[in-house]
Parts: sequence; C-alpha cells; structure tokens
Amino acid sequence: MNTSPLWHPFTQHALQDSEVLIDRASGASLFTKDGREIIDGISSWWVNTHGHCHPKIVNAVQEQAAKLDQVIFAGFTHQPAEELATELLKFTRGTFNHVFLSDSGSTAVEAALKMAIGTHAHHGKPRHTIVALEHGYHGDTFGAMATGAPSVFNEIYAPFLFKVERLPFNNMVDAFKDLLKKNGADIAALILEPLVLGAGGMKIYPPDILKQLTELCKASGVILIADEVMTGFGRTGMRFACEQANITPDIMCASKGITGGLLPLGATLCSKEIYQAFYQKDKSKTFWHSSSYTGNALSCAAALANLKLWQENNTDEVIKNVSAMQATQLKRLEKHPLIAHPRQCGTILAFEVCHNEQGYLSSVAPQLYQFFLERNILLRPLGDTVYVLPPYCINETQLARITDTCLAAVDAIRAGNLKSAA
Ligand SMILES: Cc1ncc(COP(=O)(O)O)c(C=O)c1O
Repeated sequence: MNTSPLWHPFTQHALQDSEVLIDRASGASLFTKDGREIIDGISSWWVNTHGHCHPKIVNAVQEQAAKLDQVIFAGFTHQPAEELATELLKFTRGTFNHVFLSDSGSTAVEAALKMAIGTHAHHGKPRHTIVALEHGYHGDTFGAMATGAPSVFNEIYAPFLFKVERLPFNNMVDAFKDLLKKNGADIAALILEPLVLGAGGMKIYPPDILKQLTELCKASGVILIADEVMTGFGRTGMRFACEQANITPDIMCASKGITGGLLPLGATLCSKEIYQAFYQKDKSKTFWHSSSYTGNALSCAAALANLKLWQENNTDEVIKNVSAMQATQLKRLEKHPLIAHPRQCGTILAFEVCHNEQGYLSSVAPQLYQFFLERNILLRPLGDTVYVLPPYCINETQLARITDTCLAAVDAIRAGNLKSAA
C-alpha cells in the first residue's frame, strides 16, 4: 500500500501501489538513486525539448534566482519578461503583437478564450458559441475542459461545463461550413490543436484542412485560437504547427516547451486587433485575468535561455534530424501485423496496437506502460495508442531501443502474454 500523502495527477492510487522515485535527470534520461536509467520517450508529458537539466537553462535560472525571484506583475514588470515578450514575438516570426503570460497550458487556454469572448463583447457585438474539434484536449481547468472532448476524464463535470459545438474529426471543414450557415453570427471562436490532436490519441490531420478552417474563420469574423501547447516549440517538425499550413491564428497558446521543460509558464500571444479591443480608456474593458505567478521571473529566464539555445544549437535543424530518425523507426514499426495506423508528424510518432479491448480505460494501456517501464523506457500509451514524443537530444540508439521495445510489446500481445511479460 502507498503510504505517501501525495495525490498524483491522472493516477488511481487504489490501483497503483507506488510511483517511481526519480532522483535526477540528464539529457533524454531519468535516473533513480539505485542507478536505474529510464529513457524519457514522452519528454516528461511533452515538456522537455533540449534535454533534462540543460546546463544553460539551469544557469540562467540560478542567476535569475539570485537577483529577482518574483514580483507582482500588475503595475510592475521586469527585464526577463520584457525581453521574453520581444523574443517570443520574433520567434513566432512577427505573427503576433502582444503576449499575455500565465503559468500553464490550461491557463494559457483560459486567457485565450476570455480574450476571444471579450473582443466580441467590447466591439458591442457579443457572440456566445465556441467551436472545438472532436477528440480535442485543451487542459483540465473548467473552460479548457469544456472545450475538450467529452470523455471519461470529464463526464462527472459535464453538467458544469459550457456548451461547445464540435466539428467531427473526419469532416471538419464541411461541418464548420454548416455551422457557420446556421449560426455564424454567434460563433465567437474556433479553438483547435493544429495538425495533431495530442491527448485525444495523437490524431494527425493535414495542413490543408487547417488552412481551410482558418479561411472560414477569417471570412466570418470567428476568432481562431491555435492551441500550440503540445505542438509548439518544434514537435511537428517546425517551430509551430501553424507554420506548416502557412496560417496566422488570431490567438496562440504556448506552454510546455516554452521553458525547454524546466519551469512552468504559459503564454497567450495575440494579434493587434485582439489587444486593441481591450485597450480603452474605459476601465471596465480591462482584461480581468491574472494568476499570482503571472510573469514569474525564473520561468521567464528559463524561457529566454530556451530561445537562446534554439539559436545556438540550431534547433530548427535538430528537429529535422529527429524527424528523419523517427521516419526510420516508423518504417520498422509499420511492418508489424498488430500495428495499425502507423503515423508521424515531425518528431512525433504514433500507432495503435491491435487487440480485443478498446477505449482509454482498456487494460492494455497500463499493461503496455508496465511492459515499457520494466525495460526502462517511459512511454505512456493513450488507450491503445502508443506514441513516442522524445526530447530533441535523443539519439538514434535510444530511439531504436524504444522501437525494439514497442515491437517486443506487440509480439507479446500476439503471443497473449503481455501481462506476464511485463
Ligand atoms: C493541446 C494542449 N492544450 C493544453 C494543455 C494543458 O496544459 P497544462 O497541462 O500545462 O495545463 C495540454 C496538456 O497536455 C495540451 O496538450
């Protein structure tokens, strides 16, 4: 029995005895005190980019901590945040005009939704409908949860969530056209994960669909919110997934990789028009949103160090190499008869395992997780979807080991002994 007073996220403590105690981390590896080395195949929930404890980010945070830790961000500001906003606008190639800081992906999404709804309201034409994608995920706070797909994660909260119109994954464009015809003047925003629906099962859709949805938004005054919390900072093979469709959303949410995975930070970037809707002498039109740690100086210093590393390491090229290595691994996987829908988007590789139980709560996911962990690989399947989303410092040998273990796992499923093998 687990005697820890900690209540872990996404963990059923009644079924899980204990957690793996990690002592330190370096590069793509996590280490236990007794010398076990675990390859982090999911970048510790998709946050880590340049590798764990990257010395340049660690140094930047240490230096910042000795100088200024945290200061109230209303009425006050500080150099790391100012510099970060400027650098982020450059990093996103001048697409946006302003940056609102918060502390997670969910809070970046909450800010985005409030910006979108507020923009229409401040223009004197309030709109009340939010549109999202089937299988979408935007976080676990209530607004973010409302926009995410209904699932076992949120079903008991459903009566408390605002209503959202959802576009079916296989027919997004036509469904959006229909909605616009029926109710276009009331649609405030379309929120979507560009190109890859992460938590919904690493479902990939083509840039052309994203482009068409964007054009429909622009033509109908619908604010487009691109949630790049997972896809941002290189995961899809470019800095941001939106670049692949050559589109400019009105609002973009970033988090996770923004600090290289070292400290929590959320950023909601927006166009001039969104900012202008709130920029009025009337105080009631203020953007009434904050959290205590908004603009935390250490997180900003980590994010700045991350952006600097991006230049120094030529990370644009690094992610191309990781994508090429993943393409090689995919070729090995796609030959296996029990591997369905093998797919890749940039550095992300995913597939479904064929077995006779379906759904997120099927027992195959925990058995696979255990199978991988026993072999010192951290992969956390989403139901029957296995995915590899590594830090960019991962090498070919480590990726090949992950693939070997995936193949061994599906072989064990075929032999009917996944559980006992784990
Ligand atoms: C696309 C997307 N948006 C938002 C979030 C929520 O981010 P956080 O867990 O930092 O609140 C996630 C988390 O996985 C995500 O994948």
